[in-house]
Amino acid sequence: MALQAMLMFTPMRISSSFVCNHNDSHSHYSGYKMSKLTSPPRAAPMLLPNAPSSSSTPKPPNKTHSMPPEKIEVFKSLEGWASECILPLVKPVEKSWQPHDLLPDSSLPVDDFNDQVRALRDRTVELPNNYLVVLVGDMITEDALPTYQTWINQLDGGVADKTGSSASPWAVWSRAWTAEENRHGDLLKTYLYLSGRVDMLMIEKTIHNLIAAGMDWKTENNPYMAFVYTSFQERATFISHGNTARLAMESGDPVLARICGTIAADEKRHENAYQRMVKKLLEVDPTVTMVAISNMMHNNITMPAHLMYDGRDPHLFDHFSSVAQRLGVYTAADYADILEFLIERWELEKIEGLTSEGRRAQDFVCSLAPRIRRLQERVDERARKMKPRDVEFSWIFNKKVSLI
Ligand SMILES: [Fe+2]
Ligand SMILES: [Fe+2]
Repeated sequence: MALQAMLMFTPMRISSSFVCNHNDSHSHYSGYKMSKLTSPPRAAPMLLPNAPSSSSTPKPPNKTHSMPPEKIEVFKSLEGWASECILPLVKPVEKSWQPHDLLPDSSLPVDDFNDQVRALRDRTVELPNNYLVVLVGDMITEDALPTYQTWINQLDGGVADKTGSSASPWAVWSRAWTAEENRHGDLLKTYLYLSGRVDMLMIEKTIHNLIAAGMDWKTENNPYMAFVYTSFQERATFISHGNTARLAMESGDPVLARICGTIAADEKRHENAYQRMVKKLLEVDPTVTMVAISNMMHNNITMPAHLMYDGRDPHLFDHFSSVAQRLGVYTAADYADILEFLIERWELEKIEGLTSEGRRAQDFVCSLAPRIRRLQERVDERARKMKPRDVEFSWIFNKKVSLI
């Protein structure tokens, strides 16, 4: 499914509305993470000497800076709108939760603190190994936050934070988003550390490798494409954390359920912000935005931790994804569901005023979900005929978890 479409300049239709559409539809969630079907093509080569080689076939270099420079005006013209419609989605610090609210209280006398840690350990003792693998993978994904902020600050269109403390609403949003996200990895990591159920050293090595390896986003420094990516990705993390919350409850840990649910609520707010941005871009620049959506779907939405490596398993991300799929935390069906949700949310089938290239992109995107589902049915059928396969995960002291 190689896409040849190039981003194309269309005259900007600045509409009436520098007004937010507060009728953003909110969704119900369904399930979490990618299967082989929707996994990205194998990752770009990692920079670390001890990292696994991901592909023997050289890949063409990624496109960079694909947004025509004149499009900077689009984002400039939307600054007032972003202040009015995006920044209110940031939660003030005083109204925000902090990891310490959900962890054993370290300000207590040591015996009381120890009691809380003991209670945490009692609650987590029944968490299944496959659940721990998925929770660790999710936590590692959250903890690679430096990579994500770096990526945002490489975007064109004036949405990057040029000074590090820019007053532009795009920069204000991205710093606030980073600050909110920063709590997710902190909270999950500390909880897992206190549980004693996971090998923290191997987890820390994985995080170290992952941040050093970076991420192959395929978003071309292009904010149109990047905001499509984040719209999709934030919803995927919302679904994922929602499902780990449900499973924690079923496994007898209501505190962990609350932790995952609290993080999921943040992700929901984040997905709303990014989806509003794309909705607005569709309004002011429909063809370029539609082509950006199509390009991202052609690329597949690559999960942000796809370069994870623990120094042992060269297929760690695929194995983690398979466990998440099997556990129903994030599945190929979710991938198709997210796409369908976005098509409806952005009313892509009703967008008018597109060039022929825009209409081709629209046709591609709007017909993709059923194709993904049909492919997945074939993959599932093959999987049913395969023998069960166990894989060791260093994160849980080399215990084995079934992939099929
Ligand atoms: Fe997060
Ligand atoms: Fe998020």
